[in-house]
Amino acid sequence: MILGIETSCDETAVAVLDRDGRVRANLIASQIERHRPFGGVVPEIASREHLEHLFPLIRQAVASAGATLDQVEMVAMTAGPGLIGALLVGVAGGQGLAYGLGVPVVAVNHLEGHIFSPYLNADGPATDLPARLLALVLSGGHSSIYDIRRNGNASPSVSMLNRTRDDAIGETFDKVGKFIGLPYPGGPQVEKLARAGKADRKRFPFALPQFKDPSADFSFSGIKASAIRIARERGIAPGAENERADFCATFQDALFEQVFDRLEMIWQKTRTESPAPSEVTLAGGVAANGVLRDRLTAWAAERGLSVRLADRRYCTDNAAMIAFAALQTGRPADPRRVVARSRMVVGAN
Ligand code: KG4
Ligand code: ZN
Repeated sequence: MILGIETSCDETAVAVLDRDGRVRANLIASQIERHRPFGGVVPEIASREHLEHLFPLIRQAVASAGATLDQVEMVAMTAGPGLIGALLVGVAGGQGLAYGLGVPVVAVNHLEGHIFSPYLNADGPATDLPARLLALVLSGGHSSIYDIRRNGNASPSVSMLNRTRDDAIGETFDKVGKFIGLPYPGGPQVEKLARAGKADRKRFPFALPQFKDPSADFSFSGIKASAIRIARERGIAPGAENERADFCATFQDALFEQVFDRLEMIWQKTRTESPAPSEVTLAGGVAANGVLRDRLTAWAAERGLSVRLADRRYCTDNAAMIAFAALQTGRPADPRRVVARSRMVVGAN
């Protein structure tokens, strides 16, 4: 069995997986309520909360997996990227636990967790990766499309095809949501309001950012700035519910238009290569969005690609995906040699 620990941001999470990726326990202690009064994550509060919840949660996860600690063969923890104080709690906790049990640790990049999460199944062993796939990771801190290739029995290779040049998409949802009076985190709230509204780009003119170079990078700060300006000018605020719903529908639509514009660029570039990607996946907190899930399903069907959406319980931060990434990457190490790092990339050339 493998024990996963995730403490990179505002969720303390612990999971227990079998070697075949079957999720035996997946527990999350969310701190959202503690950060909500501040409209965003307060790093110092996050660290203290992790410290308080981590070990009780480990005990609870092992018990609910019907296991005992001495059955744990490996401890996987998020080593970065994230809030350094928050990461340190999970890394030090995992190191101590592994050292005490005499088992190796795997330092997992949080993004690897999201990248492989669509292959986790809620009941049953994980699904094998195809030979090549395009993986969309859209979260509060990251927005990228990755090229994943399976190399026989070796670890899959990960190469980052684009990134955001400024804000992440989830962050954009949250900041604009906060500005129009929605509680933190704004993403799910914007989605809820958008469902009652109608997208109208003439009324709310959000431009699709394009670069002069042929890059497929994302950029969300322009949409954020114009959304905030328009919201201020038109008085989009609690009370004007119909207008706020239309605003949210249009704003969400503009964000997703950019996602599909870049995905199409990348697909056109990779489809003639050998092997061509046969599947597109969606993961990260923003992958919980129903409109995005439906649009990606339709987009993939039109191109003869299969689609794999991360189960909603594995979209937002969780430890099952961290333990699963450790199984994919297979990098067991001495517990004494692992360090937490606030900045870490994956698949950058
Ligand atoms: O992956 P995650 O839990 O944390 C990071 O690693 O960043 O993602 C959290 C982000 C937040 O920005 C939140 O607003 C967004 O995911 N999110 C959504 C939805 N649910 C969560 N964004 C849009 N629509 C949703 N339904
Ligand atoms: Zn995340």
